Amino acid sequence: MYGTTSEMHPGVDYLYNQTDEFYVSGKVLGIELPQHFEFESLWSNPQELRKLFNKRCWNKVVAFQTSKPMHRVHREITLAAAKEAQANILIHPTVGMTKPGDLHYYARVHCYQAIMKYFPANMAAMSLLPMAMRMAGPREALWQAIVNKNYGCSHIIIGPEHASPPRHNGGSDAYYSQYASQEAALKHQEELGIQIITLEETRYIKEQKKFLPMSKILEQNLESELLSDNEVKTRLYSGQNIPDWFSYPKVLKALSNAYPSRCKQGFTLFFTGLSGSGKSTLAKIIYAKLIELGTRPITLLDGDIVRHNLSSELGFSRKDRNINIRRIGFVANEITKNGGVAICTPIAPYTQMRREARDLIEQHGAFIEIHVATPLEVCEDRDRKGLYAKAREGVIPEFTGISDPYEVPENPEIRIDTSSLSAMEAAQEIYLHLFREGFIDTTEDCNSIF
Ligand code: ADX
Repeated sequence: MYGTTSEMHPGVDYLYNQTDEFYVSGKVLGIELPQHFEFESLWSNPQELRKLFNKRCWNKVVAFQTSKPMHRVHREITLAAAKEAQANILIHPTVGMTKPGDLHYYARVHCYQAIMKYFPANMAAMSLLPMAMRMAGPREALWQAIVNKNYGCSHIIIGPEHASPPRHNGGSDAYYSQYASQEAALKHQEELGIQIITLEETRYIKEQKKFLPMSKILEQNLESELLSDNEVKTRLYSGQNIPDWFSYPKVLKALSNAYPSRCKQGFTLFFTGLSGSGKSTLAKIIYAKLIELGTRPITLLDGDIVRHNLSSELGFSRKDRNINIRRIGFVANEITKNGGVAICTPIAPYTQMRREARDLIEQHGAFIEIHVATPLEVCEDRDRKGLYAKAREGVIPEFTGISDPYEVPENPEIRIDTSSLSAMEAAQEIYLHLFREGFIDTTEDCNSIF
């Protein structure tokens, strides 16, 4: 299918591993068209799109199918292709997930909506295409050609490395040669019944303030600018500037909603440690500090309060503890996803469950694990709730540290021993960690409250 036997090809790797174990094939019968509740006006099926082209007398339409956000260079190349073909333009974004970690399609659509404003009137239309890019290179190009022909387009743009997966082996190996997709599409152009417009790689030339194809750049020995999608992502996350030549302010605004800088992202502070280690005390102080900061909604999911409200039917078997942590992870994830701060303070004695919570939450924000490493003797000495004494007597079974294990976190973001630090000092360490890692807004208007 993918023209490779490599198991590292993303089509094989994450798609195969995330879907069911088998595929089906056979005759396809249409039963009902899919319904879309979001961006309702942006979906057209092939019939509707053909009708629209007819109505507007767009006899020739060049399709630009994409699964990435569009910036200045993409507008440049679609306009160039439209000139070449003397055709109107269809921006045809695929909106299925290409690979995990890709920009959520809502944000991408906001980018497309923004860039449409930069096309001349009566030149371009946009329609969302309900399928996912499979990164199958040449075969994908053929597939896209067929799909776009069915949607009524006369031409399709096939770029260099069209539909290619990211290179593997640290960037040295490509699955398909740079022009493999173009060659395949051109070879079958007639049979496909759609004209192929091939494009060269195009880059920005600062001196000339314009985009040029690579052949011209090499011919004239010019210096060109390049900014990869990953670089853009990193810059947005860290609140750095994106140069003007690269994109449009409205597109970047839409993108930065999807990639907020750290000081706008949600995060989870996940305290773990023995009963009586000081988790709740620390959490209360840091809660107060963050409330004072006033930049995000803060939720304190204190271990005991969760046990009382969310997990009241659970005991302390491994299974029950796992369910408890899973619930906390679920709630913390929802909070983090929506830009809030979740402060959790369960004992969370098992590595596996802490990792599960981390894996879930890190998809949407930071997971900061704080091991409150107060030694057992100190906790037992304090024994504020009198539980250690009961555990020693055997009245409470499966007690963490006494009759049930506590697996010490290997690489927590922060480790604190409250037997040598006061609670205020320890909370300050956490606050400074947040500051150092960029979670605290340091821009000039960070105190806009006043
Ligand atoms: S966890 O293992 O599921 O993370 P959690 O933090 O919710 O535990 O609850 C721990 C609190 O319940 C302790 O602070 C203690 O007050 C109380 N408790 C009651 N029985 C036990 C037990 N067997 N082991 C640990 N804590 C217990």
